Amino acid sequence: MKRKTYQGLTFRPFIEKTAIAERVEALGRSIASDFEGKCPLFLCVLNGAAPFAVDLFRAADIDAEISFIRLKSYEGMSTTGKVKQIMGLTEQIEGRHVIVVEDIIDTGRTMSHLLDDLRALGPASLSVATLLFKPDALQVKVEPQYVGFEIPTKFIIGYGLDIDGLARNLPDIYVLDEEGAPEA
Ligand code: IMP
Ligand code: MG
Repeated sequence: MKRKTYQGLTFRPFIEKTAIAERVEALGRSIASDFEGKCPLFLCVLNGAAPFAVDLFRAADIDAEISFIRLKSYEGMSTTGKVKQIMGLTEQIEGRHVIVVEDIIDTGRTMSHLLDDLRALGPASLSVATLLFKPDALQVKVEPQYVGFEIPTKFIIGYGLDIDGLARNLPDIYVLDEEGAPEA
């Protein structure tokens, strides 16, 4: 696999698509056995989690539903700073078994806010599936039940993850090659 260049930055291959597919299949099997008969609702956080959510949903061989939300950031009038609002949630959450599907958990702030908002809607259960998890970057407590890969605190692209909107369509995952980075 070759290196990729975006915005003058070099990325090297990190996780190959065959390894991603194997891991996603395994997560799908665990979700299927945990939620058999419960018809869980997969809630995909757009845009980044789209490829992972669709593959994971297909890998879970049970009755289940999928829906897509977007998190819109806006500057609050209060001093709490950035607030994220859920956009596009049309499904009834109350009493459902909800599995939030994310591409990556970095500081955990996005997920923590989202879980607070979803919890307020009264789901029967709330779980988190994330393709990538950077445990060393975590700043607020988030404990995802289904993790594809734990990775070091480095910048990742591919399989949904972007750099300024690009690279989401790479089938493999790449990591920023800090050694190969051009001088600033
Ligand atoms: P958090 O709130 O810090 O956990 O950030 C989560 C969001 O930041 C993700 O949903 C991604 O959109 C973005 N993000 C964090 N790390 C990366 C990365 O390595 N590559 C691309 N996007 C990232
Ligand atoms: Mg994201």
